[in-house]
Amino acid sequence: MKHRMIVAGLAGLAALSLVGCSVGSEVDDATSTGVPDTSDPSASTDASTGTDSGYTLTPKDLDGDGLITVGFAQVGAESGWRTANTDSYKEYFVEENGFKLVFADANQDADKQKQDVRDLISQGVELIDLAPVTDSGWEPVLQEAKDAGIPLIISDRQLSVPEDLYLTYFGGDMRAEGDRVVDWIKSYAADQGITDPINVVHLQGTMGSSAQKGRSEALSVGAPANDWNVVYEQTGEFTQAKGQEVMESFLQQGKDFNVIYSENDDMTYGAIDALVAHGLDPKDYIIASFDGNKSAVQMVVDGTIDVIGECDPLLGPQVGELIKQAAAGETIAKITYSTEGLIDSTNAADKVTTAFGS
Ligand code: AHR
Repeated sequence: MKHRMIVAGLAGLAALSLVGCSVGSEVDDATSTGVPDTSDPSASTDASTGTDSGYTLTPKDLDGDGLITVGFAQVGAESGWRTANTDSYKEYFVEENGFKLVFADANQDADKQKQDVRDLISQGVELIDLAPVTDSGWEPVLQEAKDAGIPLIISDRQLSVPEDLYLTYFGGDMRAEGDRVVDWIKSYAADQGITDPINVVHLQGTMGSSAQKGRSEALSVGAPANDWNVVYEQTGEFTQAKGQEVMESFLQQGKDFNVIYSENDDMTYGAIDALVAHGLDPKDYIIASFDGNKSAVQMVVDGTIDVIGECDPLLGPQVGELIKQAAAGETIAKITYSTEGLIDSTNAADKVTTAFGS
């Protein structure tokens, strides 16, 4: 049972010298996104049509080479999820599928990524797929793409921009992912008869990304609603190293906690390393993570991680299909969310066989 309350600092200080182990579609409407533009009255509430957004650009083979050249403005290489996402684009957007790929890596730098998109516009790519690092400051850049006649798709992370600046969004519903995990923790705590206060350590992703905002909003609504205390909240920037660093700095404070809500698997690996380095047993805590990398799912099978909010990185072929539909003149939804659920002890053994990454 995972409800032991401990004074982390006391246990941790005694064990500081220990060496830590290293670990490792569905269409929806805009009202359930949890991203900032959901309150925008101009946002589509009928994703099955996507017809009234005022966006008329469609993908075309402009240079007549028989291929659509897609410029992909990628976030970086911060996580296992990101590697799987990049691989899925590089594998799918090839000549035999009717595409050419121009890849731009922003290295998690939101300013660089805006320049990356401007460079793709200058190069005259025939479509831009933008997976935005953060969600602010994009309107002028998207307007430039539109003025240049280049259709733009937003994938992975949503943006708070008017709908007439992009063709479609395809990717996760980050708020729904967070809500699922919060509900799971609530049910689990009730099933286990946990009567101690629920004290949550919250490791946040890249601040200002829709992945962070949606998952953080779910907890910021869910915690007070369930009388949980968030005892620590810090960004680990979606990386294992930073996740470990922030967990270590929390453990130094010696505060009680019994739940870790970590916004991706990589930070979860880092947090677990930090616990072990402090002589703590990760299995004594409720550990909630996001994504569903194979090693993380294996850790659910092993009982180290308790729940994972799935986030699908294998977007390349799904986005490719949408581009083909739009190029053929079909109406495509303004927002399409990936199919996602939860991974816990009830399904992890099945899920691990098909999980992405390593
Ligand atoms: O936007 C998706 C998030 O970005 C994934 O949860 C995380 O692992 C990645 O870095």
